[in-house]
Amino acid sequence: MLAVENLHVSYGQSEVIHGLDFALKPGEIVAIMGRNGMGKTTLMKSLMGIVPSTRGVIRIGGTEVEGIESYRRVAAGLAYVPQGRMIFSAMTVKENIETGLTVTGETSVPDHIYELFPVLLEMKSRRGGNLSGGQQQQLAIARALASKPKVLLLDEPTEGIQPSIIKEMARTLCRIRDEMGLSILVSEQVLSFALDMADRVLVIEKGEIVHESARQGIDEQKVASFLSV
Ligand SMILES: Nc1ncnc2c1ncn2[C@@H]1O[C@H](COP(=O)(O)OP(=O)(O)O)[C@@H](O)[C@H]1O
Ligand SMILES: [Mg+2]
Repeated sequence: MLAVENLHVSYGQSEVIHGLDFALKPGEIVAIMGRNGMGKTTLMKSLMGIVPSTRGVIRIGGTEVEGIESYRRVAAGLAYVPQGRMIFSAMTVKENIETGLTVTGETSVPDHIYELFPVLLEMKSRRGGNLSGGQQQQLAIARALASKPKVLLLDEPTEGIQPSIIKEMARTLCRIRDEMGLSILVSEQVLSFALDMADRVLVIEKGEIVHESARQGIDEQKVASFLSV
């Protein structure tokens, strides 16, 4: 569903992603784990076309999207929940979700989005900036789902979220995968969250994948050792 081959990304002269290869099957959840500064956000931004890649292939379904504009990648089925959520504080909850509808041609928020996130229905007329961190994360996910993606990218969704809510978020993301059948790539530093939801874990260090394991039979200590400073 998502295929990445030999992806290289640079900021000016400085290359930070050095030839990544990985793929997501339909309905698969993959966690990409690594410490701060290892290249998780750069990878996500390059998949979305926010930061250009210098070399490589990116395919969504069968469509090659490398080099094309972000909005066309969204139309091809890619959706993105950025690190820090980046919701529109001054806009209402409903308006925030509606910004995700642009590529679908729909004019109102589909009911199933409010079924997944009942709190957003309750708060649909409130300003985004007045929501708690956990509610803003739900809003950012709802906005991404409004474009009816095939592949959902989430960049460190647990950052700044209370542990009790993190558990619930893992359950919701699994439910989204089960009900909507999409593939999810999630970057994370919290191992327990990744193990709650991911089918497979990749570890990124300095822009390279240094470890890969299915959740079944994963060596948790080894993955944890990559994440400790
Ligand atoms: N806009 C930028 N310009 C130059 N270097 C950057 C920029 N953003 C990130 N970097 C560098 O790229 C590397 C990877 O950063 P990033 O992708 O943000 O990592 P992570 O999300 O894993 O914390 C780091 O060395 C960081 O300093
Ligand atoms: Mg980051």
